[in-house]
Amino acid sequence: MRLDRFLAEMGVGTRNEVRKEIKSGRVSVDGHTIKDPGCKVQTDSLVELNGEPILYEEFVYYMLNKPAGIISASDDTFEETVVDLIAEQKRKDLFPAGRLDRDTEGLMLITNNGELAHRMLSPKHHVDKTYYAVIMGDVTERDIRAFSDGLVLPDGLECMPADLEILSRVTDDLYAAIENDSLENSVMTEVNITIREGKFHQIKRMFSSIGCEVMYLKRLTMGPLELDETLLPGEYRRLTEEEVDSLLKL
Ligand code: URA
Repeated sequence: MRLDRFLAEMGVGTRNEVRKEIKSGRVSVDGHTIKDPGCKVQTDSLVELNGEPILYEEFVYYMLNKPAGIISASDDTFEETVVDLIAEQKRKDLFPAGRLDRDTEGLMLITNNGELAHRMLSPKHHVDKTYYAVIMGDVTERDIRAFSDGLVLPDGLECMPADLEILSRVTDDLYAAIENDSLENSVMTEVNITIREGKFHQIKRMFSSIGCEVMYLKRLTMGPLELDETLLPGEYRRLTEEEVDSLLKL
């Protein structure tokens, strides 16, 4: 690839900025000063800027614990995005692999590997995604069977079979008092739900179709990738080599 592209992709600056650096003689390739921005280099060439090596990384992968209130986009004129939360990012080609609603928390993969993201999200590949959810309403064994048979939503959407696990039931008198609601309505159920597709508001729509409301939603896994619970909402880390390998095998 061209030397200016190599440096721009590694976040040294814009194409114009790196061209200026190159022309001013601050860049060397394999020990030789190069002043031609179009000089061809390999990804394993020793490229140095002011004597500091710049290593080429084709793909990068971050695990983010998405906080509520942030949108799942690469960039936005008005709002902070999940990619903005990756403070160390210098490259411009990062995007979130899949979307979570603004109020959903949890596991988000931020990468520049479009092919991998496509594989993870394509319904054909059926990559499991597990969420923890707090549901307003009493989720029952009958609902477990209905989810596993494949719900048909009121708008006609035929959902793929989903695994629903009831973790606990909570009756919150305080909530009922505040809401001036009947006690019956204040039953909440904690569940884990695993889906294999990702239609718009899918989990919220699935619960809505059985007369329940999702109060809290957090993604825990995407295929082999599990949310690192040491990451507080808004924190991120690079994927380990093992995690990257497990995704590349998908
Ligand atoms: N399903 C939803 O309803 N919302 C999400 O953010 C993810 C899955």
